[in-house]
Amino acid sequence: MTKSVEEVRAEIPFLRTGIIYLDNAATTPTPQPVLDAMLQYFCEYSANVGRGVYSAAKRATVKFETTREKIAKVINAKPEEIAYTKNTTEAINIVAQGLKLRKGDKVVTTVLEHHSNLLPWQRLERQGVELELVPVSRECLIDPAAIEAAIDDKTRIVTTHHVSNVVGSIQPVEEICKLAQERGALSLVDAAQSVGHIPLEVRKLGCDFLVAPGHKGLLGPQGTGFLYAHEDLLAGFEPLLVGGGVVKQVEEHKYDLIKPPQIFDAGTPNIPGIIGLGRACEYVLEIDIKRIAERERKLTEQMLRIVDIEHIEVYGPHNVEQRGGVVSFNINGLGHHEVASMLEELAQIAVRSGHQCAQPAMRHLGVDGIVRASLHYYNLEQEIERFIATLEQIAREFGS
Ligand SMILES: Cc1ncc(COP(=O)(O)O)c(C=O)c1O
Repeated sequence: MTKSVEEVRAEIPFLRTGIIYLDNAATTPTPQPVLDAMLQYFCEYSANVGRGVYSAAKRATVKFETTREKIAKVINAKPEEIAYTKNTTEAINIVAQGLKLRKGDKVVTTVLEHHSNLLPWQRLERQGVELELVPVSRECLIDPAAIEAAIDDKTRIVTTHHVSNVVGSIQPVEEICKLAQERGALSLVDAAQSVGHIPLEVRKLGCDFLVAPGHKGLLGPQGTGFLYAHEDLLAGFEPLLVGGGVVKQVEEHKYDLIKPPQIFDAGTPNIPGIIGLGRACEYVLEIDIKRIAERERKLTEQMLRIVDIEHIEVYGPHNVEQRGGVVSFNINGLGHHEVASMLEELAQIAVRSGHQCAQPAMRHLGVDGIVRASLHYYNLEQEIERFIATLEQIAREFGS
């Protein structure tokens, strides 16, 4: 009951604009069944959750809560271990604040992180928490030995990305989580570029926390994401927001909150978004994440032919086994924004250009920005051919 590339393409309205969309690492277009699930909410049971006793409110609550089961199925967790967030960034902030780190505690991460997995920890640094940024190889691979060397008795958490949004390198997160655990530290995996793209199981990874967006590999709507953590870990966390919807008992000067994961849903949450995310999880499971990974690998291999084009420098590992579907490069003699604009003008190709929300990573690469092309299952071989041919033309005419 899997879905073919053609079937998926036919269900993504955005592609009908004729765009060659290669910016899937930023966010992904939404398939019709996900749009339909959200529209159904708006048209048939557009009520708030966790409050009313009338049937539309009960239906909204059930649908909203069911998404936890669907996310849990994607990463092989339990529904009680899934907290909804508006994006990956919020999920990391919940952990950074929730751990209540103090002066004398240490956080270990890498120079290759997205700003979302850096600033929340830098904020703690201002309060006296030590933050060590482990260097990565020229190819942007993390050496577990470097992580091991950075972990000491003060280290409370090791936090790294799974697949780099900068160059697509796949990191040895299983090994990193094991090292953290052996030294009594917690581990967080930023799965923003891996969830929905490659099969992953939290129990196999051995992580304490996993954070992910709904709006990238899972093909869910923008404004959605989640935090996975073991129930016991979440139980000690103070949520970022408190207010309506999360209380057991409130008196004039004190409150008693409900249990996780609903404790993170203060105020009216993104009900249509979370319902859409539930449908999106089903959708990627219908395609089959293993098949998504296989197809993306094939397309990445094809895309990596740009390595041989004169004047182009490709960053990250050239071996496809060490990569997700993200390929980053520059053309000598041209600015990254110029290249991205030309790709659109010449062939309606959409890519991301700039520092990719990872300025320390840009310094590691010795550049101020890069062009990034990123894939999903629905991209076509012909689109990649067009991309390569257009780049060849740009490099030939303007490269130096
Ligand atoms: C590796 C990585 N971490 C975190 C984020 C932040 O994700 P979000 O926009 O869902 O907060 C991104 C977004 O591109 C990312 O690629």
